[in-house]
Amino acid sequence: MSELLLTGISQLATPLGQGSRRGAAMGQLQIVERARVAIDAGVISWIGPEYEWSGNAESVVDLGGRAVVPGLIDPHTHAVWGGDRLIDFEARSAGATYEEILAAGGGIWHTIRETADKSSEEMAELALPRIQALQRSGATTIEVKSGYGYTLEAELRMLEAIRLLQKRTLSRLVPTLLVHICPEGFTERQAYREMVCNELIPEVAGRGLASAVDIFVERHAWSAEDARIVLACAQTAGLSIKLHTEQFQQVGGLELGVEMEALSVDHLEICSVEQCRLVARSKTIATILPGVSLHLGLPAAPGRALIDAGAAVAIGTDLNPGSSPLFSTSAAMGLAVRLNGLTAPEALTASTANAAAALGLSNVGRLEVGMQADFLVLESSDWRDLPYTLGQNMVREVWVAGRKQAA
Ligand code: NIG
Ligand code: FE
Repeated sequence: MSELLLTGISQLATPLGQGSRRGAAMGQLQIVERARVAIDAGVISWIGPEYEWSGNAESVVDLGGRAVVPGLIDPHTHAVWGGDRLIDFEARSAGATYEEILAAGGGIWHTIRETADKSSEEMAELALPRIQALQRSGATTIEVKSGYGYTLEAELRMLEAIRLLQKRTLSRLVPTLLVHICPEGFTERQAYREMVCNELIPEVAGRGLASAVDIFVERHAWSAEDARIVLACAQTAGLSIKLHTEQFQQVGGLELGVEMEALSVDHLEICSVEQCRLVARSKTIATILPGVSLHLGLPAAPGRALIDAGAAVAIGTDLNPGSSPLFSTSAAMGLAVRLNGLTAPEALTASTANAAAALGLSNVGRLEVGMQADFLVLESSDWRDLPYTLGQNMVREVWVAGRKQAA
């Protein structure tokens, strides 16, 4: 006897296999027409076509002839921030570039000034509606980065804010320590790096405040040499690693990430064909962020070339005030089809199974027996309406661990 049986599923679409690689595998979904799903203790206990079901259930929920897909996984957000970046938005529309604004002490520095003085409670209050927006758009697992605290104390407060947020949402939050930007000057940079390695990372690891360390490798941020030191400290402390890299300049971040077996290399707007092949030969996930290309007018990351080379691609919103004010994980998926050349099935895999792999998770991202019952009921009877529709939410219901979330 199952606890719960879902009926009235017109079509169930799920990727097969975690961290799927190559065009064929990434685009190969399992589609079950007229499906049923049984759930026990928040986990999928049976799944298949309705004519094969012969069990019993304590309660039955009829989904009314709608399509079901796995809950989306947003593997890259900066959902905690203070203030706004409307000044940058205006300056950029008048011709200034993101890099120029950052180099002049604005951009990320501006957001740090608006965030770092807040208490963790204030930070959580600012972020909660953003987490709720991502959840309404279909995200049942959401990675959230620090990185706007800058000082030891404020970075810890940001991660504590994510811990507070986890108590206020049923979506699963995955906190990441982001080593974002660095001071000018060799000595200052070295001192900051030592603070990160000797104080921040050990404290974060010791208190379980993050599961990974991310670093922004860029001309106006960290060099690959500095990143190597910081990421080695993270690994010594037992944390996974990720990189923001190949966004504006090629300064060695992607190669470092692959060499150090990062969970993911993220951005990749200027990733070359040779670099696509390098990622494809590794276990590292290539996380693309189409909202950044749209908002900053950057080239789109070569999603098609990455998949054709054999890389496992994931999609994130990169929700943040400066480079991607995109509050919808399903819109990120739809944009990846238009901007990055993914097929709709590849985009579903990239926003579910592969995004789970980018976070080192193996119990979410697919609808199979034994996986968490995290899934979406769509407004449509055809799952393809999710990446197809723009500007209207096609997610009708969001379920996490077998529980329907309040709208
Ligand atoms: O993923 N590139 C660096 N970090 C963020 C943007 C942060 C910001 O502009 O506030 C990103 O694009
Ligand atoms: Fe980012």
